[in-house]
Amino acid sequence: MHHFGKAIYNGLNKPGTNVRFNVTHPNDNTTHFGYETVDEREKAGRVRQVFDSVATKYDVMNDLMSGGLHRLWKIFTIARSGVKPGMKVLDIAGGTGDLAKAFSKKVGPSGEVWLTDINNAMLTCGRDRLLNNGTIVKTAQCDAEKLPFPDGYFDIVTVAFGLRNMTHKDSALAEMRRVLKPGGKLMVLEFSKVTPLLAPIYDFYSFQVIPRVGKVVANDSDSYRYLAESIRMHPDQETLKQMMEGVGFDRVQYHNLTGGVVALHVGDKF
Ligand SMILES: C[S@@+](CC[C@H](N)C(=O)[O-])C[C@H]1O[C@@H](n2cnc3c(N)ncnc32)[C@H](O)[C@@H]1O
Repeated sequence: MHHFGKAIYNGLNKPGTNVRFNVTHPNDNTTHFGYETVDEREKAGRVRQVFDSVATKYDVMNDLMSGGLHRLWKIFTIARSGVKPGMKVLDIAGGTGDLAKAFSKKVGPSGEVWLTDINNAMLTCGRDRLLNNGTIVKTAQCDAEKLPFPDGYFDIVTVAFGLRNMTHKDSALAEMRRVLKPGGKLMVLEFSKVTPLLAPIYDFYSFQVIPRVGKVVANDSDSYRYLAESIRMHPDQETLKQMMEGVGFDRVQYHNLTGGVVALHVGDKF
C-alpha cells in the first residue's frame, strides 16, 4: 500500500504534556516507510537495512547529493548551538560523526561529547573516521526512543537528518527533552518543506537524479529513493514546531535554510 498524503499528527498541543502523535494512521499500528505504509514493528528494521547498505558510501554520497551544502547547514547548526568549553553534548543519529567532531573541539577536555546511533555500521564508520582524525568521543549504539542516559544530563542535544527515520518521533523528542538539563537546548536539523518556487526543480532532482546517482556510486537506487520519499513524508516546519511544543519544549523557533530544503528547529527546556 502507498500513502501519498500529508502526515497527520493528532494530539493536544499543550506544553509540558507527553502527547502521542500518531503518524499517518491514527487508529492502527502502521506508519510510513517512505511512501509505503508498514507495520510499526517493521519500520526500524527497514531503516536499518537502508543505513547498513549506505554506511560505507555515506560521506561521499552526502557531499555529492547536497553539492557540499550539508557542510554549511551543519556549520550553521554548530554556530547556533552556542556550545562552550566544559559542556556536555549528545549527538543522536550521529552517523558518521560530523557534528560530534566539531562539538568535541568546542567543549575541550573538560567537556563531554557522545556520538550515538542505532545503527552499528554507521556508528563504526563514524567512530573510526573520528579516531583517524585524532578525535576521541564517547560512543553508544542506542535507539533515540530509549536513550541510556540519566535525566537532566546534557546541555545540548542535537539530531541531524535522523528524526525522519524514527518510528515514534514524539517518544524520541520526549526522550531528548528528558536527558536535557533545565536550561538545555535541543537542535533538530532536518529536511523540510521547500518554498513553492523551488518545488518543481527539487522534485525532479530528488526523484530523478538522486536515485540514479545512488545507483552509480553506491549501486543502490532503492535506499536513495527512500531518502527522497522519507523527506516528503516528514512533518513540515510548523508541524515539527508543534510536535516539539507538544512534548514540552519552550521557545521553539526554526530557521529555514536553502529555501526550506532544510530547517533547523531549536527548542529550550525550562
Ligand atoms: C541520514 S543519517 C544522518 C547522519 C548524521 N547525523 C549526519 O547528519 O550526517 C541518519 C541516521 O539516523 C540513524 N537512525 C535512524 N533511526 C534511529 C533511531 N531510532 N535512533 C537513533 N538513530 C537512528 C540512522 O542509523 C542513520 O545513521
